[in-house]
Amino acid sequence: MIKKVLSAALTLTLMFSTVSYAEKTTGAIISSEILQESIDKRLDIDNVMGNMSYFSEEIGERFAGSQKEKESAEYIYNYFEELGYEMELQEVPIVNKRGALNIVGDNEKNILAYRTLGTFGEEFLGGSLIDCKEGGKEEITDEISGNIAIIKRGENVVNAIKEAINKGATGIAVYNNVEGSFRISLGDYNCTVPVVLIPKADGEYLTQKINNSQEAIEASIGQYIYDKTWNVIATKKATEVENPEVLHVTAHYDSVAGSPGANDNASAAAMLMEFGRLFKDYETKADIKFVAFGAEEIGLKGSKYYVQNLTEEEKTKSIGNINMDMIGTNYEECTQLAIETVAGDTHKVTDSILNAGKKLGREHYFVSKYGGSDHVSFHNAGINEVTFIWVIPNTNDNGIEPWYHTYEDTMDKISPERLREMGELISTSIYDISEAQPKVEEEIQVSKVIGLKASEINTNSVKLTWKTPENTVGLTNYVIYKDGKAIAEVEETTFEVLDLRANTIYGLKVASKYSNGKISKPVSINIRTKK
Ligand code: BES
Ligand code: ZN
Repeated sequence: MIKKVLSAALTLTLMFSTVSYAEKTTGAIISSEILQESIDKRLDIDNVMGNMSYFSEEIGERFAGSQKEKESAEYIYNYFEELGYEMELQEVPIVNKRGALNIVGDNEKNILAYRTLGTFGEEFLGGSLIDCKEGGKEEITDEISGNIAIIKRGENVVNAIKEAINKGATGIAVYNNVEGSFRISLGDYNCTVPVVLIPKADGEYLTQKINNSQEAIEASIGQYIYDKTWNVIATKKATEVENPEVLHVTAHYDSVAGSPGANDNASAAAMLMEFGRLFKDYETKADIKFVAFGAEEIGLKGSKYYVQNLTEEEKTKSIGNINMDMIGTNYEECTQLAIETVAGDTHKVTDSILNAGKKLGREHYFVSKYGGSDHVSFHNAGINEVTFIWVIPNTNDNGIEPWYHTYEDTMDKISPERLREMGELISTSIYDISEAQPKVEEEIQVSKVIGLKASEINTNSVKLTWKTPENTVGLTNYVIYKDGKAIAEVEETTFEVLDLRANTIYGLKVASKYSNGKISKPVSINIRTKK
């Protein structure tokens, strides 16, 4: 058997596209500043923008538990898997209800509600659609009993809803009078039928249909219940460390219903993926878990589940959590990169972040206090946490862009420069915390076999024996040559050369062969076969 032991002689093979290092190490270490710089330079914001636009434009709205949320999880999973990470798709139980108005028959259409009011059962209830306009006195007639009212949002909307319910409506769809989502409050009115709030365009389409058609348009109203989401967990294992610590780098990938969620939170999900791409070329002294959470928007469900499922040992080994949420807005007023912990405290992780800032020549960062994203789940488990967001300076409670959680959270409102500032800071900190080093490739030392001997010399055969070469790292087998030609490859340190002619001189050689395909200089011996 050939022994494979680790070579002490390692040659740094740096895999950077933008910086080339001619400098070879003879025990010397490339200065950490140069490596640091390479982290920044390798950060590819086009890749981040590309994946963001995939989430927010190709996939779109990704509300908790939806098929599109699942599709996003799979996209992230495949991305990390292709990079070679150890993967887990963690299924998380949730309850997320979403009202809907389903048009049946020829006009079949499935309209998901922005919001849903009322307490009602799980069954969808049927009826004809009745256009009640803005719900004035004459517009809500007895005809509504057992049917579904469509009401245009206006000043009278709350009374109109109550009136329709009094007159026996099965359910009510209220459509917006302007773009985007909206809220309605019924106060303490005990609403027992489904009231779904739907987009302007859908309401206009339906009322036109109702008014242009001879026959009634049939529909059903109710709510879907989505019962699971997924956390995508990509693990980078520490190199040559027993019982390593673990750093959790996280971002949620779901969006609120009705929003394409470019900044909230395709921005951070895509940055997480870029970090995955960056760090695959490094060896680290800590495990890094890159985790994309589902169902943040309905109460931090993904992260809660993830943290709850860490063992006590895993919690103890946790260095901390670096979370990102809304990291790419181009809203003019959001000029401050907020670095926030739930309690406003500082610790090892925030220290590393501020220190990374200094390395990058940015002295102005400070830590402030904020909850409201997945870092809260880590905080609640006693794990150090920090989250990042662009905010309006000097605003209490995170002043942010006005299109937050609306259909206008789109790619045209994203700043590549702000993404870069954030990405550089965090990647530098991850680099420091995990004690990253560029991956090294072993240079295989090729060496000759030792002590080649011929024995049992007969008229037509001879036995060769030798000893393993000095360096056995990467050694795979030996090549045997007769009169300059390779005649065999063997793994043992012996070979019997057959089919020789009697009384003839032969030049026999043996060389070592290595896993990189290289073959050592051969060692030769001349023999004369017997008469
Ligand atoms: N990205 C937001 C958090 C956020 C909102 C940060 C506003 C800064 C300013 C996050 O996705 C979110 O909307 N969180 C919820 C809380 C959660 C527990 C449902 C929120 O803040 O309403
Ligand atoms: Zn968010």
